[in-house]
Amino acid sequence: MPRPLFIDTDTASDDAVALIIALTHPDIDVVGISVVAGNVPLDMAVQNALYTRDLCASTVAVHAGEAGPIARPLETGQHVHGHDGMGDLGLELTGRAPSGTHAVDALLAAADAHAGQLELVTLGPLSNIARALQRDPALPDRIARMVIMGAVADHIGNQNPVAEFNMWVDPEAVDVVLNSGLAVEFVGWDISRHYAVIEPDEAAELRGLGTALAEFGVDIQRCVSEFCHTETKLAGFDLPDPIAMCYAIDPAVATETRRLNCRVETTSELTRGMVVMDQLGFTGLEPNAVVVTAADRARFLEMLRSALATTP
Ligand code: RIB
Ligand code: CA
Repeated sequence: MPRPLFIDTDTASDDAVALIIALTHPDIDVVGISVVAGNVPLDMAVQNALYTRDLCASTVAVHAGEAGPIARPLETGQHVHGHDGMGDLGLELTGRAPSGTHAVDALLAAADAHAGQLELVTLGPLSNIARALQRDPALPDRIARMVIMGAVADHIGNQNPVAEFNMWVDPEAVDVVLNSGLAVEFVGWDISRHYAVIEPDEAAELRGLGTALAEFGVDIQRCVSEFCHTETKLAGFDLPDPIAMCYAIDPAVATETRRLNCRVETTSELTRGMVVMDQLGFTGLEPNAVVVTAADRARFLEMLRSALATTP
């Protein structure tokens, strides 16, 4: 039986490829997609998610959620993924209608319908999840696992020296999640940087698969490719959400994991959003998260290639 999966996303160019991986995978039943502000404002992220869903010939409901962090003003990542979040290619990213059900209501309903089995994958800031936990503190009892694309196990950040973007946008939401009892598993930007950078020749080979999904999945990385070249100094574009999704679907993508105590910085501006991972046990606090610390790049690329080669 396909596993029920609920995806929360701030849909931009890497999120879109992660959605394709999940929506085309035979072992996965995507029972809902909720959208949160992050890479781009909420309405743009909703349209990007709907566009990608339609490209996959899926009818799964897409639910608009929080338009910003639970305790701060929104700061987007449009300088990374483009104004529209999808490479500013001029795609027709308007006019699609999301479900009338709010993201929080949809997540709680999915948790009721698949109690104890539902797997949750988050690809953006955790604002929707925090609001759901505030509404129903017993939610963790019905969620089998929560895979978070977020944080950095090596503490080399992409938003400030020590914080990853998703955690940085809404650190108070991360704090709610880390204190909720949810079974969380972090796939950090360090994993993307080390195992999910797609160099130009590899991008050309992927695009050469010749399917609509392959051409879309590569072309929308146009802006993030430029950002990686000039800012994060990577040898191509990296795909943090897709490698997190591949791990969620097939945990063997991780070759090393650790159980660590994780807490988030919410007061200092210098280290805002840093998820502090107690690797040497200084705090004496119980581990509260699984952290992926190494991955199988070949296994990731095989799953990525298989998804993009699909013609729905
Ligand atoms: O730091 C990378 C994360 O921030 C990814 O999820 C990307 O889509 C952005 O949301
Ligand atoms: Ca994302």
